Amino acid sequence: TNRQVAVLLAILMSTLACGPSEGVARPVERLSGQAGAPGIGDSDFPLDGNGGYDVSHYALKLGYTPSSRRLDGVATIQATAKQGLSQFNLDLKGFKVGEVSVDGAAATFSRTGHELTVTPAAPLRQGSAFNVKVAYAGVPQPVVDSSNLGRYGFIPTPDGAFVACEPNGARTWFPGNDHPADKATFDFEITVPKGATALANGELTGKPQTSGDLTTFKWREAHPMATYLATATVGRFQLREGKTPGGIRALAAVDPKFTRSLDKLYKLSAEITDYWGTVFGRYPFSSTGGVIDDFTAGYALENQTKPLYGGFDPGEDIIAHELAHQWFGNSLSIERWRDLWLNEGFATYAEWLWAEHKGTGTSDASFRAFYERPAKDPIWTYPPGRAKPSDLFNESVYNRGAMTLHALRGAIGDETFFKLLKTWTSEHQYGNVTTEQFVTLAERLSGKQLDTLFDTWLFQPGRPAI
Ligand code: ARG
Ligand code: ZN
Repeated sequence: TNRQVAVLLAILMSTLACGPSEGVARPVERLSGQAGAPGIGDSDFPLDGNGGYDVSHYALKLGYTPSSRRLDGVATIQATAKQGLSQFNLDLKGFKVGEVSVDGAAATFSRTGHELTVTPAAPLRQGSAFNVKVAYAGVPQPVVDSSNLGRYGFIPTPDGAFVACEPNGARTWFPGNDHPADKATFDFEITVPKGATALANGELTGKPQTSGDLTTFKWREAHPMATYLATATVGRFQLREGKTPGGIRALAAVDPKFTRSLDKLYKLSAEITDYWGTVFGRYPFSSTGGVIDDFTAGYALENQTKPLYGGFDPGEDIIAHELAHQWFGNSLSIERWRDLWLNEGFATYAEWLWAEHKGTGTSDASFRAFYERPAKDPIWTYPPGRAKPSDLFNESVYNRGAMTLHALRGAIGDETFFKLLKTWTSEHQYGNVTTEQFVTLAERLSGKQLDTLFDTWLFQPGRPAI
């Protein structure tokens, strides 16, 4: 055909132009596609996420049996090829993979560590939309991290599962592009024993259906979400549903051990969500709320629309923190883990703002209390602007991150500072962000040169002068 002749001509001409070393190889690759990279390009987590494609939607059909801990899943993933792809990777930890198909045609696959490599029957063209279907089953194996992450992922509990996945535990329950740089919408269809409740992100799309001794819950998160914020927490739960005074749908759920916390969790979550709407800009999701499970995780996680509290009754400060993450972390997600202070520093500063709002403290007093810490304290030895992969959630990322914002507020004044927060959330709503973008915006709105302030607070060890 004319096309083949054109391709042959192109090969011939590029061979003549460039010499044999690259002239022959390149056009051939373009015809067959290349392998997508096994990582998305975050050098601190080189195998997290994947290259070569972008996911737009996950449809997860899951069956979970607490007594046997067995999870049966079918994941259908809609994506777009960002390059010609002869093969591509998904992240999946554990499980036996049954079948994989691409656009309905059987695909071959192989597995190495948490990399599931898929080879479609025919290469995918750059720019084409495709879907991948993966059937898998087994007992989920949560991640147990030796540094400061503890246990995370899909964690079986006696009555269900506690599902909190930051930073990279989504792979313990579904195959995907497990990195916050690739956000997508989600549909969940979760079948559990009758009497258990499955709580995923977003909204129920219908009434739970019981047939025999199984109940199916269908949830939809219609806004883009990072994989680590996805949840399918299962167990016996008491629920309270309604709307916040400001009109946002709200759901609180507690394990029966926390019955006495249900109303408090519901009311505080509603009140705080409404208040953050006035400070950070309109609430970005379709509902708010919180879940207390009886699994002692030692942490809470800001799961999109449904923060999860691991075995404790959260105080106002923690609820204020997790709900602030709905803007900082969830609507605006980091592009690289090293910028984690954009999540944790902001959510911690929100705790200080909440105390100020309630009249129980001032952000100045919070700042001073930390500022007095001795020189050997982690906040002075660990500059928070570059979170370390081996110590990602160091308290400096939280507390000195918050101090950075307080120092910024002092430098640019209250009016510009609060305008900056709202401009930041609106300009990057549902997107991905970097520290450089925040610095640029702060300089643009204030008209000030802020390099020294950000450099000393975020990137240099030692206690900055004030
Ligand atoms: N982002 C959570 C918070 O609000 C912390 C998550 C910690 N993750 C972990 N695997 N320990 O503070
Ligand atoms: Zn946090």
